Amino acid sequence: NGTARVTPQGVLDIGGVSAPELAGRFGTPLYVYDEGLIREQCRRFHRTLAASGLDYQVSYASKAFTCLALVRLMAAEHMGLDVVSGGELYTALSAGFDPARIHLHGNNKTVAELRQALDAGVGCYVVDSLDEVARLNALAGEYGTWARCLLRVTPGVSAHTHDFIQTGAADSKFGLNLANGQAETALRAMLDAPHLDVLGVHFHIGSQIFGTDGTRAALDRILNWLAGLREQTGFTARVLNIGGGFGIRYTAADQSYPIEDALTEIAGALRAGTQTHGLPLPQLWLEPGRSVVGEAGWTLYEVGTVKEIPGVRNYVSVDGGMSDHIRTALYGANYEVALANRMNDAPQAEYTVAGKLCESGDVIARDKPLPHPQRGDLLAVSCTGAYHFSMSSRYNQMPRPAVVFVGGGEAREVVRRESWADLVRGQE
Ligand code: LLP
Repeated sequence: NGTARVTPQGVLDIGGVSAPELAGRFGTPLYVYDEGLIREQCRRFHRTLAASGLDYQVSYASKAFTCLALVRLMAAEHMGLDVVSGGELYTALSAGFDPARIHLHGNNKTVAELRQALDAGVGCYVVDSLDEVARLNALAGEYGTWARCLLRVTPGVSAHTHDFIQTGAADSKFGLNLANGQAETALRAMLDAPHLDVLGVHFHIGSQIFGTDGTRAALDRILNWLAGLREQTGFTARVLNIGGGFGIRYTAADQSYPIEDALTEIAGALRAGTQTHGLPLPQLWLEPGRSVVGEAGWTLYEVGTVKEIPGVRNYVSVDGGMSDHIRTALYGANYEVALANRMNDAPQAEYTVAGKLCESGDVIARDKPLPHPQRGDLLAVSCTGAYHFSMSSRYNQMPRPAVVFVGGGEAREVVRRESWADLVRGQE
């Protein structure tokens, strides 16, 4: 991916810096980001959406990976920012991100979080429940302002199946259902609320999606619903936010579905759908996370114990594990692995890459062809840029790894490795 390549000596090089050099300078486990590839992903969204002729806004979903340096990078790449907690908001504001370009999400925003957002002047609130309408309206009134907002609806479309499941989406903690009338009730309440400025609606049908069938089906339902509401209430949506969800290629077995194709299809469906339903064209807003940072991230580990169980399985253990890489254990996710210092060596056997944490499920990748790993080898896992650092934990009192940005032959540590002292900070 991106600027990663293998040198003639068989060494993995990312952004012009060799993996062994990164491991030597910053230690392992280490999260490495190809900064140029993150930028390029942002630009692909901008290029394609600008070419579509639609008014648009792309907000990066912080949950995939956030830190001060990343937030500054998003600002430089003209992205908006989607935050889902006081902590993500604090991080964004600490990096100096323009609050007007921040959107606050959440199915249970606390009053403290809403106040934090109102204090900062956050640009948009994604209203997720009926009771939030009254709460946000009252607080905005107290601040003498209007809260610009979207209503999050559940369109009754599941992204991961072709016969879109109607009942599945009704059973969700997120958003208000189109089919059972709750979305309409909420929207009418929002329109009646004197301190809310209702921009439009939001939906997000899932993550790691290839293709646009689900999104287009959801769009169709929502435009149909909006057309009916417009007749009854006169309300015209100025904004349609379709969330994130664009899939990335974790392994060669994953489909390749370029963002350009997905965006072009969605833009086309929006134009056609608004025409069919006699609606003015709203702005198209998106909030991708994984597709912006996922393929730009790598994790480097040092190989430790190698255990070969004749006739059963071979294990190679590394110096991190489910504390910095939870997606395999949690979702059964699949990753490519390689020995970063011996990229040209032919595979000799299959190895399961295990972590060092006290749980049998602490696995990074199963049964992967590798050259016989040796203690001290460097093991690289690709596509770890999304939902890795952000979902890391301190299980077994593992300090969180450092995060390094590489590009143009330079590396900079943007998040320091946690120290032992960090592990007991604030404790009595
Ligand atoms: N917008 C909303 C409202 C979302 O709920 C999400 C993801 C996104 C945008 C960004 O979706 P993305 O473009 O990253 O697919 N921890 C899981 C993923 C959880 C996604 C939650 N919501 C994982 O590691 O796969």
